[in-house]
Amino acid sequence: MKTPSDWVVVTGASSGIGAASLDALVQRGFGVFAGVRRDRAAGALLAAYGRRVVPVRLDVTKEGDVLGLVERLRRGLRARRLHGLVNAAGLAFAAPLEWTQPADLARLLEVNVTGVFRVTRAALPRLRADRGRVVNVSSGAGQLTAPGTAAYSASKFALESLSDGLRMELSSAGVHVSLIEPGPVATPLWTRLEAQMLRAERAASPSSRAAWKEPWAQVRARLAQARALAAPASAVADLVVEALTAERPRARYSETPKAELVAAYAMDDAERDRQTLLAWGLTPAGS
Ligand SMILES: NC(=O)c1ccc[n+]([C@@H]2O[C@H](COP(=O)([O-])OP(=O)(O)OC[C@H]3O[C@@H](n4cnc5c(N)ncnc54)[C@H](OP(=O)(O)O)[C@@H]3O)[C@@H](O)[C@H]2O)c1
Repeated sequence: MKTPSDWVVVTGASSGIGAASLDALVQRGFGVFAGVRRDRAAGALLAAYGRRVVPVRLDVTKEGDVLGLVERLRRGLRARRLHGLVNAAGLAFAAPLEWTQPADLARLLEVNVTGVFRVTRAALPRLRADRGRVVNVSSGAGQLTAPGTAAYSASKFALESLSDGLRMELSSAGVHVSLIEPGPVATPLWTRLEAQMLRAERAASPSSRAAWKEPWAQVRARLAQARALAAPASAVADLVVEALTAERPRARYSETPKAELVAAYAMDDAERDRQTLLAWGLTPAGS
């Protein structure tokens, strides 16, 4: 049960799902260690929330920042309890794999996978001692792969696997691990994504750009459609709170209906490819 001395670490607390989760947690009486990368974000949080939020400089790709977080928890928590860790920091990415640079994939994996792992691993001794919980923000893209967003999916599939492993490894220690698998959510991620997509397109060779002209337009249209239907970040924050407070937290809080996933994976690969391409407005081979 939560008490006023319960604190949660939220990474990526400056924006979107992390910011909404922080807000929902403070409203429910939690204190929050807020991982942010910039002084301005730290200042804004302090001004908005006062003493219930402690901003911590945290770039999840920087070992030194993660060690700083551990030290901040040691000094800040004392007799208080670390109720949970919410890994909300993350990057999106969209481009055909042909346009994706190895450095793009490496960056996605570094932030979305290794970054989550780095922070979680560092917080584990305290989480274990306090029987705290881990909540990892994945995506529907971590359940099914689509053309144009496969590199992002690769990072989220890896996150799903790490989370499943961690959940099993920590079950006997009483540390629950949950995945949140949202569909589209209205956050600044989409504006960042648009800029990244433009950069990827500009960097592609003229012949590859020509080959991808129509399919890329379809992928962009499909993403614009998803963005238009995006849920509010507060709805995802409610799931984060649920995962942190439910007596029996679920392994997954998914936007995708289970029947849809079961049907997708019951198909043979060729049929699933065909259905996915059609759903994205692309032409399957032989059509
Ligand atoms: N929005 C969606 O439609 C959607 C759907 C499904 C899943 N998700 C997932 O939800 C998570 C949060 O996304 P969002 O929509 O809230 O995006 P967002 O508004 O762009 O927020 C991303 C957050 O991650 C932080 N971040 C980025 N790189 C970081 C790094 N190296 N170290 C520490 N923090 C870093 C950002 O910090 P700065 O402000 O300093 O850049 C920001 O606080 C991501 O994992 C995303 O994949 C989002």
